[in-house]
Amino acid sequence: MEHRVINTDETAEDRKLEPRIRPRLLGDYIGQSKLKEMLSIYIQAAKQRGQSLDHCLFYGPPGLGKTTISNIIANELGVNIKVTSGPAIEKPGEMAALLNNLSEGDVLFVDEIHRLNRQVEEVLYPAMEDFAIDIMLGKDASARSIRLELPHFTLIGATTRAGLLSAPLRDRFGIISKLEFYTTQELREIVLRSARVLEVEIEDSGAERIALRSRGTPRLANRLLRRVRDFADIKYDGRITREVADYAMDILDVDRLGLDQNDRSYLLTIIEKFSGGPVGVETLAAALGEDSGTLEDVYEPYLLMNGLINRTPRGRVATPNAYKHLGISYEG
Ligand code: ADE
Repeated sequence: MEHRVINTDETAEDRKLEPRIRPRLLGDYIGQSKLKEMLSIYIQAAKQRGQSLDHCLFYGPPGLGKTTISNIIANELGVNIKVTSGPAIEKPGEMAALLNNLSEGDVLFVDEIHRLNRQVEEVLYPAMEDFAIDIMLGKDASARSIRLELPHFTLIGATTRAGLLSAPLRDRFGIISKLEFYTTQELREIVLRSARVLEVEIEDSGAERIALRSRGTPRLANRLLRRVRDFADIKYDGRITREVADYAMDILDVDRLGLDQNDRSYLLTIIEKFSGGPVGVETLAAALGEDSGTLEDVYEPYLLMNGLINRTPRGRVATPNAYKHLGISYEG
């Protein structure tokens, strides 16, 4: 059974369309209710005191809203947001320049913050702690450093790999929060909201079907909504019903659980190469050409949540559910 790749990476199409469907205010954001409640208090407190918000670190699997939440925070604070990413900043001077160009209270959003190199990261320590950067002048005996004061700003870091963050960096965030997978109910609401924004006619039952196959991930739910809409427009009368949604997603070969190609090769590798497991995570990682941390932080959370794998002391095991889901007979 061949399944199309519905991946969770951000695509050019997402970047083009998502500004329209991304919520701009906390009140419009669906799901992550504990995080929203906390943030609402911290934002109000910072505004009341006329201070910058504490630095925030958001972590969790891709597509769950780390960037969206960060944009909402800046919007609710009424400040500018500058967006960059770990791999985009190669030299300490580039980070210093970014920081120096911020205005009082601004948000600096660093995506994939675990990928900052060591020298760049070290610029952040005094910047986060004292709102200052130390600039070295001269060399050898005549070397001295001068301190450059920065505006009070909020650093928001996002990462899928919290385990890779160095302790000194992690310790400088006052607010650290993990984003969770969304429930079907929450995804259904997100699909209905996005459909309203995109002016797509959709029935509750159609939204529910899309939600069920969205892998707990809003980015995927919105992507499926756009694909299903294409089918509704061309093959039907434009309205997304349960039948249209099921028809489109069957043709798209979207897995019933929304599993992507990575999930599927993960499961198939355990089953076909390691007789279903147990297989040590390092061995499995080598077989998949990934590092073990990526398996643990990116691939495994959704599979574990759905009871498709188990983590045992002797390694990873594919459960009978995984066999059943893939249509492979289980000979436990
Ligand atoms: N679009 C993407 N994520 C969303 C969310 N959490 N709430 C509302 N709309 C969204």
